[in-house]
Amino acid sequence: MIDYSKIESTLAPPEASSMIETFRAIGYSIETAIADLIDNSITANAQNIWIDYEWNGPSTILSVTDDGVGMNNEELIQAMKPGSTSPLDVRKEHDLGRFGLGLKTASFSQCRKFAVLSLKEHYHPVYWCWDLDYVKHQKSWSLIKYCPSTENYLEKLKETKHGTTVVWWDIDRLTSNTRADSDQSKSQFLEIMEIVKKHLAMVFHRFIDEGLKIFFRDRKINAWDPFMIGSEGLQSKPESILENGKVRIKGFVLPHRSKLSVEQYLYGKGPQDSWTAHQGFYVYRNKRLLVSGDWLGMFKKEVHYDLCRVRIDLTNDLDEEWQIDIRKSVARPPAKLKETILSIAKDARMQALEVYRHKGKVVKRKLTKNEYFPFWEERTRHGKRFYRLNRNHPLIKELKKTQDTDTSRLEQLLQFIEETVPVPLITLQESEDEKPHGQPFEGRGHDAIITTMSAMYDNLRKEGRTEEQAKALIINIEPFNFYPEYIEHLK
Ligand SMILES: Nc1ncnc2c1ncn2[C@@H]1O[C@H](COP(=O)(O)OP(=O)(O)O)[C@@H](O)[C@H]1O
Ligand SMILES: [Mg+2]
Repeated sequence: MIDYSKIESTLAPPEASSMIETFRAIGYSIETAIADLIDNSITANAQNIWIDYEWNGPSTILSVTDDGVGMNNEELIQAMKPGSTSPLDVRKEHDLGRFGLGLKTASFSQCRKFAVLSLKEHYHPVYWCWDLDYVKHQKSWSLIKYCPSTENYLEKLKETKHGTTVVWWDIDRLTSNTRADSDQSKSQFLEIMEIVKKHLAMVFHRFIDEGLKIFFRDRKINAWDPFMIGSEGLQSKPESILENGKVRIKGFVLPHRSKLSVEQYLYGKGPQDSWTAHQGFYVYRNKRLLVSGDWLGMFKKEVHYDLCRVRIDLTNDLDEEWQIDIRKSVARPPAKLKETILSIAKDARMQALEVYRHKGKVVKRKLTKNEYFPFWEERTRHGKRFYRLNRNHPLIKELKKTQDTDTSRLEQLLQFIEETVPVPLITLQESEDEKPHGQPFEGRGHDAIITTMSAMYDNLRKEGRTEEQAKALIINIEPFNFYPEYIEHLK
């Protein structure tokens, strides 16, 4: 043991403003930053949370108010300290906090100035402000008693009798280089606010379902439930309970698209507007969503697993094991659980794949042996691989028919396309890029699919095939096989 009493020492406190600049670089987005404030409100027992903002260019102000227990002066000053609580402290079971940093890092990540006003029962309302410019000027960790429109905010807190408001201004990350009177800046800002709203609807969906009200400029946010619980055709696996109940895992297979209404289908696309983006694990810490649709490095996202979403519930004392980061947007399962999680996920994915393909199968089963018509075929020429457009594909055959007598120009074009397919580029991207590969016509209008499909159907019917035969042929033609739901509705 070192006897510290005999050793000379000197203070080396951090330089306040450069420390704050470091906070600013942690990498929050505005939606994750606001979510971090809401965590604090929920931990403080809030029933209602109000997010307000008024676009005013660089002078835009944003506030988050809650009706939680609030803080007195001493508690507020403690709360404003970076590292107000140690990550090593044992947290109450329902506490959503961790490092004692969120309020400060989340706020400074977006703005240069923020104030916290709070009212606790039996105490006077209090407020303090961190102003990066003042800290820089003073070269010290000093709060100032300042907030724009203090009276208005305090008025609102008095109405709810207790609660806390966080006010951000000089929100440079979002509003510097904008003009209050620019329509373009304003609509960009409003678009970002829309992203924030969708993010909150997702991250806090279980709290909202249990009665928490989050108002976004006075409009209540509706929850977005990734598992679409209650929808017809939803399948779920039994929950696996691990680590004495500290970790719970449940796989869900969402209903096939043909079982969903258009509204439900769009709902399922979630904040990221894509089923593929939203497949994967959903990791919750105390019902608060940390990871939303990510296979945690175990699998790639692929369109045929679109219906698979796996819920993982964690208690709040596993942060270190699961490597939860300051922003609460990353979680990594500990090595000892990887095998188990992998096998649970594989099981759910298999089932999701079945459902995804099921619809096609139903139509296919009705039919005897129909030939399958891919668009592309693999061929070898002088020991090298090439890709050839299938001249027997009904759409190509048809086009050739319509070319009167001379089909040589069309044939030429097909050959040029075949000879220039950027295969090396595609292979390279496939192996390097984490982005999932889309299916044909994914994310663009389906008009081309629907019209060519119905034209083909009409022809087949004219040629004397029954409805069933015609449909059975079409389901075997690429890319129609990806869209069995349209085939079902052919008339
Ligand atoms: N909205 C709020 N209502 C009541 N107390 C709050 C609120 N926001 C923050 N606090 C207090 O400030 C402390 C620090 O918050 P924060 O910096 O987010 O760290 P953490 O959430 O990890 O504790 C919290 O532990 C809490 O005591
Ligand atoms: Mg916090």
